[in-house]
Amino acid sequence: MDVGIVLPTKDEPRWVQDETRFKEALKDTDYSVEILFSQGSSAKEKENVDALIAKGIKVLIICPHDGNAAAAAAEAAKKEGIKVISYDRLITNTDAVDYYVTFDSIAVGEAQAQYLVDKAKGKGNPLYLYAGAASDNNAFLFFEGAWNVLQPKIADGTFVIKNSSEAVALQNKPKLTRDEMARIIGQITTNWDFNEAKRRAEDNLTAAKKEDKGNVFILAPNDGTARAIADAFAADKDVTSYVVTGQDAEKASVQYIIDGKQSMTVFKDVRTLVKDAIAMAKDLLQGKEPETTGTYNNGKIDVKAKQTEVIVVDKNNVKEALIDSGYYNASDFTGIQ
Ligand code: BGC
Repeated sequence: MDVGIVLPTKDEPRWVQDETRFKEALKDTDYSVEILFSQGSSAKEKENVDALIAKGIKVLIICPHDGNAAAAAAEAAKKEGIKVISYDRLITNTDAVDYYVTFDSIAVGEAQAQYLVDKAKGKGNPLYLYAGAASDNNAFLFFEGAWNVLQPKIADGTFVIKNSSEAVALQNKPKLTRDEMARIIGQITTNWDFNEAKRRAEDNLTAAKKEDKGNVFILAPNDGTARAIADAFAADKDVTSYVVTGQDAEKASVQYIIDGKQSMTVFKDVRTLVKDAIAMAKDLLQGKEPETTGTYNNGKIDVKAKQTEVIVVDKNNVKEALIDSGYYNASDFTGIQ
């Protein structure tokens, strides 16, 4: 076995999409590759990596379930001389990561926040904040990006945060430390879980007064949680309208966008990420130094990284961005023009 690929879970369409795109891209390769899923468990992830090490892989491409916990798996691989590529999510606090292929995750958060800013009129707009799992380094990058854009608009009164006392306490600070972000994320996390997202949104709506609702603005970190949160807000009779963000261009959310139930998504073209990861793996198998575009600090070292841009998609460009680009078929959706 030449290359082992470990992905976090089949329970989210995002990672099934990555598997599909890996399979498409690997169809004609001469290298042998195996893809395993960790099903949201760091223990299972370590088992997967151990199994791939036993098969003699030379390169490991891994998207960690939990960035810190995955350090043990990366270290086990490194000990065997295997090159480790962190895929989409960074493995943190270890020197056992060789490379990182990723989207520009700060730009994802900034794009989500900018969308809310562009739709807001006047002052005092109710803002509800939600975040990803604190065990995922990306949740911090997304939030950091969103805060860059939202904070000045909170400070000037355009938005009023309705569901996080920690965020309110820090609302005059343009740059937050990781600990400060962790405090906020602790209050608004969805854990990347649809049910948890829905529960949290419902709890927030129960706690909120009628005047905290009306035309609301919602920072939702990704598509799965966006649909769950949007459903909760749509069901509240005191919510007149909502603008809600997303990420991943999952098919179900593309349909939500067409139907006007989700406002936007950030399209991360997985084909590009897969292509970059495979090119990197091939270079490493041939003893070449892969091309990188910068570095990411993982708490211990600066990891050489190759980064890809993201695209904002809403009703206006959904066809052009996702159908005309060949990413999805028009027949996957109803009502697309
Ligand atoms: C990924 C997102 C995904 C989220 C939940 C993040 O690390 O970058 O694309 O929606 O995890 O799985």
